[in-house]
Amino acid sequence: MTTEITITTPDDWHLHLRDGAMMEGVLPHTARDFARAIIMPNLVPPVVTGAQAAAYRDRILAALPEGMEFEPLMTLYLTEATDPADVRAAAASGLVKAVKLYPAGATTNSDSGVRDIDKVRGVLETMAEIGLPLCVHGEVTRPEIDIFDREAVFIDEVLDPLRRATPGLRVVMEHITTAEAAAYAAEGGDDLGATITVQHLMLDRNDMLVGGMRPHYYCLPILKRGTHRPKLVEAATSGSPRFFLGTDSAPHPQHKKEAECCAAGCFTAPVALACLAQVFDEADALDKLDGFVSQHGPRFYGLPVNTGAVTLTKGDPVDLPGSVETGAGPVAVFDPGRAVHWQVT
Ligand code: NCD
Ligand code: ZN
Repeated sequence: MTTEITITTPDDWHLHLRDGAMMEGVLPHTARDFARAIIMPNLVPPVVTGAQAAAYRDRILAALPEGMEFEPLMTLYLTEATDPADVRAAAASGLVKAVKLYPAGATTNSDSGVRDIDKVRGVLETMAEIGLPLCVHGEVTRPEIDIFDREAVFIDEVLDPLRRATPGLRVVMEHITTAEAAAYAAEGGDDLGATITVQHLMLDRNDMLVGGMRPHYYCLPILKRGTHRPKLVEAATSGSPRFFLGTDSAPHPQHKKEAECCAAGCFTAPVALACLAQVFDEADALDKLDGFVSQHGPRFYGLPVNTGAVTLTKGDPVDLPGSVETGAGPVAVFDPGRAVHWQVT
């Protein structure tokens, strides 16, 4: 039985840090285990321009505790008014590593997102030309589409036509949750990647809804039927370079999660690596963990792999932190609802 593994220092290819007091509270929990992260731009107001991304990056670095190292990889929030020249300049300077497409209304703070894809064709063509990846929140928002079907419908109706219409565009299917998305990503070429979260590898909708409704498991895209989870685990542990970690760690103050209309998002950052080691161990695929968390992401983004290393050890079930205190109030930490035997040492 393997009781210790050492992997290359990982990165998180989809992270919400927020801003201000919340950011100060959650940032150390990512910086402790991850060297870099793709920082989501869905602040209020969103990070739309290169100048806004530069200012946000400065605020993140200023909030980093003394002695910790962490590199925020900035993104721009795509709107119908995004200027292709600004995107080009922000990418050329090295500041911005991706642009994020939120269909308007799909998730937390997505009101400024895209309603009509035709309005952003110019930006997408510029991105294809310069090789800047598009991170896609892949859900349709038409009210008649069932929330559990929104991802699968998006692939057929939006993503596939978009990729065909924009040859060369590098696309990351963010936080995939379905067998359909895993299959689509697996068949893609080098210009396609897909991130998977910790919660979608560990839970399905029964965990959220049977025996009472658990708001801390409510995230978007929503947890799916139990048949999908094994397909996601299969993809993550396959060794395919298309798949890499994006935790989508999305902190909300506890009172906003435990509310009549609860905010979407799971705060997984403090326990992400331990949980992933557990998942990969259960799948008898610990040898694939390094690829998923440390190798495939940098390869897709054209960045060097980290040089450091992280060791995880296996023993008795570990006590996971229940919550983290922040200046914006306590934030409940993701509880996978089962024993986790691994910890970062
Ligand atoms: C994210 C958030 O809270 O910003 N929430 C979530 O459920 N994942 C937004 C997102 O990535 O969809
Ligand atoms: Zn997200």
